[in-house]
Amino acid sequence: MTILVTGGAGFIGSNFIFYELQRHPEDRIVCVDKLTYAGNLSTLAPVLEDPRFRFYRTDICDRKGIYEIFEQEKPEIVVNFAAESHVDRSIEGPEIFLQTNIIGTSVLMDACRTFGVERFHQVSTDEVYGDLPLDRPDLFFTEETPIRTSSPYSSSKAAADLLAMAYFRTYGLPVSISRCSNNYGPYQFPEKLIPLMIANCLADKPLPVYGQGLNVRDWLYVEDHCKAVDLVMRRGSVGQVYNIGGHNEMRNIDIVRLICHELHKPESLITYVKDRKGHDMRYAIDPTKIHRDLDWLPETKFSDGIVQTIRWYLDNKPWWGEIVSGEYQSYYERMYGNRA
Ligand SMILES: NC(=O)c1ccc[n+]([C@@H]2O[C@H](COP(=O)([O-])OP(=O)(O)OC[C@H]3O[C@@H](n4cnc5c(N)ncnc54)[C@H](O)[C@@H]3O)[C@@H](O)[C@H]2O)c1
Repeated sequence: MTILVTGGAGFIGSNFIFYELQRHPEDRIVCVDKLTYAGNLSTLAPVLEDPRFRFYRTDICDRKGIYEIFEQEKPEIVVNFAAESHVDRSIEGPEIFLQTNIIGTSVLMDACRTFGVERFHQVSTDEVYGDLPLDRPDLFFTEETPIRTSSPYSSSKAAADLLAMAYFRTYGLPVSISRCSNNYGPYQFPEKLIPLMIANCLADKPLPVYGQGLNVRDWLYVEDHCKAVDLVMRRGSVGQVYNIGGHNEMRNIDIVRLICHELHKPESLITYVKDRKGHDMRYAIDPTKIHRDLDWLPETKFSDGIVQTIRWYLDNKPWWGEIVSGEYQSYYERMYGNRA
């Protein structure tokens, strides 16, 4: 089977590619990635020479380029991880979010309709549900929770979800959607909370925390997310949404304190900064449906996953050091520049 993975040079997409190639030796992976600032081809170095792997540097909004890839590769399954994914950036400039997250998704689904696939899986987020109040710990997002977005990022993801459901209903495209909570683990770009705090801690730099750091997120180890997507795209029902999360709620401030503690750095590095506009207070997923229908449960406890993640960043300083210095952007030219 050929699986086309978009956004595979990013955080979750790369972890997913490693998971698939290891878990399903009979399958081929075709990765399509534009290599934006968030895409790092060196992350995929371990698989670039694998005969079961193929990489295309292509924008998912480029209809002609995408159609050519479909014609050439004939994927049976398409999994769309490609997205502009950073909420702060969406507040600074929404347009690229609309372009990639909405138009890009529609181009991919048009290609799926034109060439025929067994499944188009859209990787979405719990942020489409908006937020929950801090004083109602009994409330969780289910698949029936109405969409109520807060940021341009979550609005663009919600629009893509609605389009995907419309393609299912109107054209009969075999679509599924998964909405996951916050991920953490290896290869996360060091602008997101956990890697940012690790990198700053190690450099004895201030640790910027929004507001009072009381916002609650439901953290899931990235490999558990990959396992869930793998199950949904292969065995989940078409036309269905599956929530993915691990009942692992943590306040941002407690995560930052824990990182200080693990790295033996003083909490005095923490600096409170002006809160993000429209900042969601609490996300919490009810994963009953994916557990009941597909027998998925998270396997990595947060207390283990966070220690593994910190250890990974300690052991892989060159990976994020190149990102922080900007050097990672020349990797593609070094790898492919002479081959064109
Ligand atoms: N990170 C999380 O905690 C989280 C949680 C739930 C859902 N998600 C969703 O999972 C997906 C992956 O998230 P991530 O954290 O790995 O993101 P990321 O920002 O690390 O990676 C995104 C990847 O998409 C690529 N990309 C961006 N625009 C593109 C375009 N126009 N064409 C082709 N490639 C393009 C980038 O180069 C990058 O490699 C996203 O759809 C995101 O909404 C993320």
